[in-house]
Amino acid sequence: MRKKIVAGNWKMNKDYTEAEELLFGLKDRLIEKPQRDGVDVIVCPPFPFLDLAYDAATDEEGEEYLFYLGAQNCASTEDGAYTGEVSARMIASMGATHVIIGHSERRKYFKESSEQLFEKVNLALDNELVPIFCCGESLEEREKGIHFDVIRKQLEEVVFKLKESEFSNVIIAYEPVWAIGTGKTATTEQAEEMLAFIRGLIKDKYSKDIAEDSYLLYGGSCNDKNAAELFACPDVDGGLIGGAALDLEKFLKIIYAA
Ligand code: PGA
Repeated sequence: MRKKIVAGNWKMNKDYTEAEELLFGLKDRLIEKPQRDGVDVIVCPPFPFLDLAYDAATDEEGEEYLFYLGAQNCASTEDGAYTGEVSARMIASMGATHVIIGHSERRKYFKESSEQLFEKVNLALDNELVPIFCCGESLEEREKGIHFDVIRKQLEEVVFKLKESEFSNVIIAYEPVWAIGTGKTATTEQAEEMLAFIRGLIKDKYSKDIAEDSYLLYGGSCNDKNAAELFACPDVDGGLIGGAALDLEKFLKIIYAA
């Protein structure tokens, strides 16, 4: 039986004080009313707040996680003369457990290629970080009816190149680009259809067991109003939440809906 995962992607939002308020607010509220058993919460703040987030996420000994902690990106190289980059090793050493890789905003604005994403996924795994690998089609691709091919290609070029033992540590987030930050959520049918398709691809590539154990998330205008319905779909194992993760009350409603 798979758990549910609710992951918040803050993107480039909040300053230190605001981050502190949201992170410790989340901590207090989850202590007061924990999420349902079998629900994992992951918070992915910007890099400068990882340390703060670690303090909020863990108990006094820094061992038990009340919620997990992810970065939004990592470098595609190990370390060295790459001014401004942040390595997977650095992220892991901050106590982070996850890292988002291949978000459509990274692909679009920073021209990240599948080759780079493959390097990033490998570096994340080498450093014992769980990659949350994002895939998604554009509106034009959906309108042309090629969305299934686009997703298959995005997976084949990166995560399907992994060995079975590596792939089993990856979370996949399907985020149709036309739904991200637009308020235009995919219907439950569209989300379920694509995630069932992805699960089928995993079965063909690896095995039935791996497919059944894989975590597949939906992202794109998932919010406190539509989360319960989306999460009730058999192949939707939770969500990657952008805008609604910046508001404590909304994020909590999504967590409790899972
Ligand atoms: P959104 O973003 O929830 O604001 O649409 C989701 C994401 O980009 O991960």
